[in-house]
Amino acid sequence: MSEQRVAVVTGSSSGIGFEISLMLARHGFITYATMRDLQKRSILKSIADKENIPLKCIQLDVTNDISTKQAIETIVKESNKIDVLVNNAGYGLSGALEDLSINEIKIQFDTNFFGLIRATQAVLPIMRKQKSGAIVNISSGLGRFGIATSSAYASSKFAIEGLTESISYELEPFGIRTILVEPGIIKTNFIKAAVLAQKSTDPNSPYFQFMNNMEDGMKKLIESGEKPEYVARVVLDAINDNNPKLRYLAGKDVEQIMEIKNKVSDEDFHNMIKKMSS
Ligand SMILES: NC(=O)c1ccc[n+]([C@@H]2O[C@H](COP(=O)([O-])OP(=O)(O)OC[C@H]3O[C@@H](n4cnc5c(N)ncnc54)[C@H](OP(=O)(O)O)[C@@H]3O)[C@@H](O)[C@H]2O)c1
Repeated sequence: MSEQRVAVVTGSSSGIGFEISLMLARHGFITYATMRDLQKRSILKSIADKENIPLKCIQLDVTNDISTKQAIETIVKESNKIDVLVNNAGYGLSGALEDLSINEIKIQFDTNFFGLIRATQAVLPIMRKQKSGAIVNISSGLGRFGIATSSAYASSKFAIEGLTESISYELEPFGIRTILVEPGIIKTNFIKAAVLAQKSTDPNSPYFQFMNNMEDGMKKLIESGEKPEYVARVVLDAINDNNPKLRYLAGKDVEQIMEIKNKVSDEDFHNMIKKMSS
C-alpha cells in the first residue's frame, strides 16, 4: 500500500473546501477534491496541474445517497484506502424561526447534517478495516453559540458537534480520530450562497427590519473575515497534531468569543452577543 496518505474533501468548488484541498495536496496527500458540480473544477485543477500536486476532482453531491456512495467507491477502488475525510460542504439558511418553513429547515439539515452523515457512513467501513483514519467535521463558531436569524444553521452545526462528540467514543477503538474545526468569520462565497427564508423577504414579516439589519451586518463582517487558507492550515495542523484534540477553533474572532464564553455566565454571554449584533 502506498505511503502517501489519501484525503477526501467535500464542497471543494469554493472557499474553505477549495483551500483545504490545495493545502492537503501541497502537503503530500493524494487529495480527492469533490464537488457537486464538476464544471466548477477548472480553477482548482489548473492550480494543481501548474504546481504538479496530487489533486483529483470528482463529483459528489452530499445530498445524494448514490452520488456519495459512488464517489467513495471510486476513490477506494483507485487508492485502496482513505486516511482523511473532511466534511466541509455546507451553506447558511437565514431567517427568524417564525419565518422559516419546515421544508427550508429540512433542506438545510439535508446538506449540513445528513450530508456529513452520508459521507461519513460511506468511508467508515474502509477506515475500520484499515484500523486508522481521521474524520474532520467543519462546524462553526455557531456550533458553540447561537445568534438571531441563524437558528436553522446554528442548530445544524450544534447537531454536528453532538454527532462528532458521540462517534468519537465509537471510533476510537478502531483507531479512527474525529476532529471538529470551528471557523469564525471567513471571507468566502458563504454570504452570497446563503439562502434567505422566503417569508423573510416579505416586508410584512414582523422580523423584516431586524433581518435586513442582520444581513447588512453579516455582509460587512465577512469582508473583514479571515482568509479560507487560515482554516485550511488549522485542518492540516489538526490532522498532524501529536497532541490530538477533539476541537480546533479557526479564527481570532471565534477564539476571543469562546474565551469569554468559557468564563462568563450564560446571561452575561447573551448580553454580549446582543450588544454585538445591535
Ligand atoms: N465562511 C464562513 O464564515 C464560515 C464560518 C464557519 C463555518 N463555515 C463552514 O465552512 C464550510 C464551507 O463554507 P464556505 O465558507 O467555504 O462557503 P462557500 O464558499 O459557499 O463553499 C461552500 C461549499 O459547499 C458546497 N456545497 C453546498 N451544497 C453542497 C452539496 N449538496 N454537495 C456538495 N457540496 C455542496 C458548495 O458547492 P457549490 O459551489 O456547488 O455551491 C461549496 O463548494 C461550510 O460547512 C460552512 O458552514 C463557514
